[in-house]
Amino acid sequence: MTRVAPPRPLLVALDELAGSATLILDAELRVVAASAAAEALLGEPIPQGVTAPKLLCGGATHRPIADALSRGRPVTGLVERPSGTVLVRAMPMRDERRLIGFILTLEDPQIAAGEELFHGMWTRDAAMKRMFRLIEKVGHSDATVLVRGETGTGKELVARAIHDTSERASAPFRAINCAAVPANLLESELFGHVRGAFTGAVRDNPGQFRLAEGGTLFLDEVAEIPLELQAKLLRALDTRTIAPVGGRDPIPIDVRIVAATHRPLRKEVEAGRFRADLMYRLRVIPLFIPPLRDRGGDAVLITEKILAEASPRRSRVVTRISPSARAAIGRYPWPGNVRELRNALEYAFATGEGPVLMASDLPPEIADPESTSDGAPLVKNEAPVPSLNGEAESIRRALERAAGSRTRAAKMLGISRVTLWRRMRELGLEG
Ligand SMILES: Nc1ncnc2c1ncn2[C@@H]1O[C@H](COP(=O)(O)OP(=O)(O)OP(=O)(O)O)[C@@H](O)[C@H]1O
Ligand SMILES: [Mg+2]
Repeated sequence: MTRVAPPRPLLVALDELAGSATLILDAELRVVAASAAAEALLGEPIPQGVTAPKLLCGGATHRPIADALSRGRPVTGLVERPSGTVLVRAMPMRDERRLIGFILTLEDPQIAAGEELFHGMWTRDAAMKRMFRLIEKVGHSDATVLVRGETGTGKELVARAIHDTSERASAPFRAINCAAVPANLLESELFGHVRGAFTGAVRDNPGQFRLAEGGTLFLDEVAEIPLELQAKLLRALDTRTIAPVGGRDPIPIDVRIVAATHRPLRKEVEAGRFRADLMYRLRVIPLFIPPLRDRGGDAVLITEKILAEASPRRSRVVTRISPSARAAIGRYPWPGNVRELRNALEYAFATGEGPVLMASDLPPEIADPESTSDGAPLVKNEAPVPSLNGEAESIRRALERAAGSRTRAAKMLGISRVTLWRRMRELGLEG
C-alpha cells in the first residue's frame, strides 16, 4: 500500500499544537495528525486513518459537523460523546481554491463557557460583564452616559450598544470626534449654521444634533471641546434646544447624549480646562471600560475570535495560536488596547504564513519586548499628543515595518492615512 504524502500545508509544526487539542484532517475527513491533548480530551487513543465523523460521532445518525464539513465550510458545534460533550471548531484549509483538508480544534465546553459576546465586544472579564448588564439597564432610559476608557478599549462600541439597546435604536446614531474637528468648525459641526453665517457658509448645515434627531449623539473625546463651546453645549443639554450659528430661533431637539473621553474629566475640571457643571451634566451615568491588560485572558480570547472572523481580504487562514504567541499576547500590556491587538493581527496576517499564529508573526515589540530599544508603546495612553520624539519614533518604526507603505503604517498605528501624512509633515519626517 502506498501512502500519499499529505499536501504541503498539512505539514504544520505539530509540536506547536501540542498544548491544544487539535486534529488535522485530509479532504476525505481522515485524521492525518492529532495532538496528545486531543487524545486526552477525547479520552481514547486516536487510530491512524480513522475518519473524524466516526471518531467524534461514532455510529450516531445525526452528524451536524460531518454534514457541514462535507460542504467545506467552517463550523463550530457541540458533539455528544460517551465521555462528555466536546466543542468542535473546524476550519477548512485550501490550496488556491481546492479543499485540501481541515483543522479541528476540540475544547471542553465548560472551560470555553464564561465567554460573552455583547454588541461586538468579546469578554470573559467580570468587570466587563458588569458593564454590559449596566448598559442593558440604562439603555432604556434617556440618561446621559459618560464613557471613560483608554484609547482602543471600545468606547465607540459601548456608545453603539447603548443606542442599540434603547428605544431609539431605529433612529440615527451619530458620532462626532470632538478632537478631530478644528475648534473653529466644531460649533457649526455640532449645532449647525445658516447660510451666510460666516465666510464659506454657502448653504445651511443642520449640524450633528439635528442629524441625530430622535436618536443618539456620541460626543467622542468630549474633554477636547473648547471652554467657550462647553457653555453652549451645557445650554443645549439644559434647554433641549440648539442655536445654529447665525440662526435666530432656538430649535428644539430630542437627542440622547453619550459622551466619551480617555481623560479623567475631574482632572480637566481641576486644571480649569473643563466646566464642572458640564461634567456633572454629562456624567449622569458613568461607565468605565477597563484597559485590555486588566481583563484577564481577554487578549487571547479576542485574538481567537478575530482569527475566526471570516474576512475575504485575508489570504491566510489561521486556526491555532502557538503557545509562544499566546504567551506574548498575554504578556504584552496593549497600550493601544483592542485596536492595537486588531492591528497586530492584521500585521500577522500580512507577514506570516501557515495555519498557526507564531510569536514571530507578531510585531517585534509584542513578539519580543526586549527587542525594541526604548520599549515605547506605539500608542500612548493619557497623552493626546505623545511626546514628539516618541511619536516620530513610533511612526518611523511603523513605516519601517510596513516597508514604507503609508497605508499599512497608518493601519498599524490605528490612525488614518491623512493623519499619518499630516503628523509626518509636522514632525519633519518627510523626504
Ligand atoms: N471586546 C471587544 N471584542 C472585540 N473587538 C473589540 C472589543 N472592543 C473593541 N473592539 C474593536 O476594537 C476596535 C476599537 O474599538 P473602538 O473604536 O470602540 O474603541 P475606542 O475606545 O473608541 O477607541 P479610540 O479611543 O481610539 O477612539 C474596533 O475595531 C472594535 O471593533
Ligand atoms: Mg473611538
